[in-house]
Amino acid sequence: MKEKSICLDLKNNKDYDKLYLAGEALKNGELVIFPTETVYGIGANGLDENAVLKIYEAKGRKSDNPLILHIDSILMLNSIVKSVGKIEKKLIDNFWPGPLTIIFEKKSVVPSVVSGNLDTVGVRMPNNEIALELIKYAKVPIAAPSANISGKPSGTKINDIKDEFMGKVKYIIDEGNTKIGLESTVVRVIDDIVYILRPGFVTKEDLISLGLEVIVDKNVLEKSSGGPVLSPGVKYKHYAPITECMLIYGNDKMKVINKIKEMECKYKNSIVLTFDSHVKCFNKAVSWGESLEEISHNMYSFLRRIDKENYEMIIIEGVDFKGLGLAIMNRLLRACSYNYIEV
Ligand code: TXA
Ligand code: MG
Repeated sequence: MKEKSICLDLKNNKDYDKLYLAGEALKNGELVIFPTETVYGIGANGLDENAVLKIYEAKGRKSDNPLILHIDSILMLNSIVKSVGKIEKKLIDNFWPGPLTIIFEKKSVVPSVVSGNLDTVGVRMPNNEIALELIKYAKVPIAAPSANISGKPSGTKINDIKDEFMGKVKYIIDEGNTKIGLESTVVRVIDDIVYILRPGFVTKEDLISLGLEVIVDKNVLEKSSGGPVLSPGVKYKHYAPITECMLIYGNDKMKVINKIKEMECKYKNSIVLTFDSHVKCFNKAVSWGESLEEISHNMYSFLRRIDKENYEMIIIEGVDFKGLGLAIMNRLLRACSYNYIEV
């Protein structure tokens, strides 16, 4: 029988000395689930090919979908990437530590299993004390995708993911709910233009306000048609509950509400996920907040919870594409496998 994972409960205490053990485990090629400010990560020593392979196995992830390296210092960054351009430097100065992943050309010390055979690597410095302490103890960059079985919603609290990974990792570090709830913004700079490959808490508007030229990659909102992509992750099913989901959105809120009511009639055993202020409009509805920050914070855990309740359809009210709304809609479109109605 497989050894059980060891849980470190740091929800209500700052007993961070215990992280030393998890750091040692990482150094020895074991996996550790740890919190970041975005979502939980399932981490391995990012310079150890065999350790990284265990992540793909534990998640059931396709090997051409590259991982992000988590670092705690610019010294560590310089040890894994070839160079840092002036725009990347500006991004680092403004957003690190924080929910921004930047793609760089990698040095050969980064194994190709981390980069999915690309010559680039995604790097971020998380804004989370536990994650930073853990990297300090491990003394190596930690390769970590979101802690979820591939295709499922990312883990934003340990209770949601414990069963998926029990016995597959050495340590599980529990810090309660992650703050942001959505994965980091992923960007790549090409010819001085910042391409957003995956939107997140650092928004297009935040980047533009620094005077940068920004392009949102077409795969952020469109279904990938199978051609070459800047970010391999867009090719795969993502963030999806097992229950069928449908996304309804539009500028005219009344029209959106009416369309949702119509769908409620069509799917008798359905539930609506909506805003606080709209919850009373429907027969059976749950609110996941009013602000974009609340929705981002709650989204994955609500989808996971409702997925267990055996509905025939989850009807989701969309948000505006502005600011953090772009990241929320990017995740919702995928959660619904592009089953959406724009009214
Ligand atoms: O917030 C986050 O980013 C979380 C926490 C744990 O840090 N991590 C995360 O990792 O979401 P993951 O593996 O679930 O998503 C990484 C995304 C994927 O869509 C992947 O395709 C893209 O980043 N990516 C990674 N390396 C890349 C590269 N070299 N070029 C293009 N895209 C890359
Ligand atoms: Mg993921």
